[in-house]
Amino acid sequence: MKKPVRVALTGAAGNIGYATLFRIAAGEMLGKDQPVILQLLELPVEKAQAALRGVALELEDCAFPLLAGMVLTDDPKVAFKDASWCLLVGSKPRLPGMERADLLKDNGKIFVGQGKAIDEVAADDARVVVVGNPCNTNCMIAAQQARRLPKSRFTAMVRLDQNRAVSQLAAKAGVPITEIADLYIYGNHSPSMFADFTHATIGGKPVTEVITDKAWLETEFLPKIGKRGAAVLEARGQSSAASAGNAMMDHVRALSTPGAIHSVAVESDGSYGFAKGIWAGVPVRTTEPGSYEVITSYAMTDFAKSKLELTNAELVSERETVQELLG
Ligand code: NAD
Ligand code: LMR
Repeated sequence: MKKPVRVALTGAAGNIGYATLFRIAAGEMLGKDQPVILQLLELPVEKAQAALRGVALELEDCAFPLLAGMVLTDDPKVAFKDASWCLLVGSKPRLPGMERADLLKDNGKIFVGQGKAIDEVAADDARVVVVGNPCNTNCMIAAQQARRLPKSRFTAMVRLDQNRAVSQLAAKAGVPITEIADLYIYGNHSPSMFADFTHATIGGKPVTEVITDKAWLETEFLPKIGKRGAAVLEARGQSSAASAGNAMMDHVRALSTPGAIHSVAVESDGSYGFAKGIWAGVPVRTTEPGSYEVITSYAMTDFAKSKLELTNAELVSERETVQELLG
């Protein structure tokens, strides 16, 4: 039996926590032979702690062979202690009528303390995945606290957007999901993101050869992906949870799989014209478990460049909004 891996998850009694923890404990994220210890953080209020105890009771009742232990806490330093994966979900979701950036003032400050605690107590191999919105900028805030861990360990999730884009292209072309390849997300997890259909393929052919309706790609497909979170929120009355949790697990699995190419928001080094130091979605190739290199070789059309500029401008403006949290 392998040594258990400690997985910390914040906001563990929330919707994404509930949609994800049982799958992680069943081995769907780190592998069917990898025991896990779940370290679950919730707010220091009785309602949240009671809900967390309820989730833990249910996890126990599943008798998962891979669940080697659980830690329930309201203290980030306990939750992140020796954790190899720190999944930062806990924060407010948006309500109907809001954009994700409207959450910055409330959620941004959470990531200062959590980033600091992770840097102090997490495992030397810790990897941090930020899901709480607006996730790119929250990830930048958390990474700013890192002294011991490299900032490259802090990634934000744009995988849900990749999955949404793949699914919509497959539906439009009338092909199975598995026919879609090389579809990556650039920029912010917001309506400004660019789902790069110009380099993606369907059944090995360029998307633009299979879906010849350029207007659909540019003016229907892109906004549909960008605003999909709002569509789910409008329909459910709550933001996406199961699909978000599923994408978080895809994100971790792909980062654990050498050779995998996938969309992740990472610290920009200036590639694709993104401002240095913001966290922007780009395609990465996993080099060894937990490490990656940015794929910088895609040449962008003028149309794509104009989209990249817009999403970059939004990320730069979010950075200005949270300047006081970056010290
Ligand atoms: P939720 O309200 O159901 O659950 C959030 C949980 O976090 C709550 O139980 C709350 O008590 C807890 N929490 C709040 N602040 C905390 C803190 N400082 N420490 C620990 N726990 C804390 O929300 P949800 O649906 O699970 O969504 C969580 C976040 O994920 C939201 O910000 C949402 O917008 C975001 N999200 C991101 C994506 C993405 O693609 N990046 C997708 C879906 C949702
Ligand atoms: C999503 O994309 O579904 C999430 O970011 C939640 C939201 O607020 O849209």
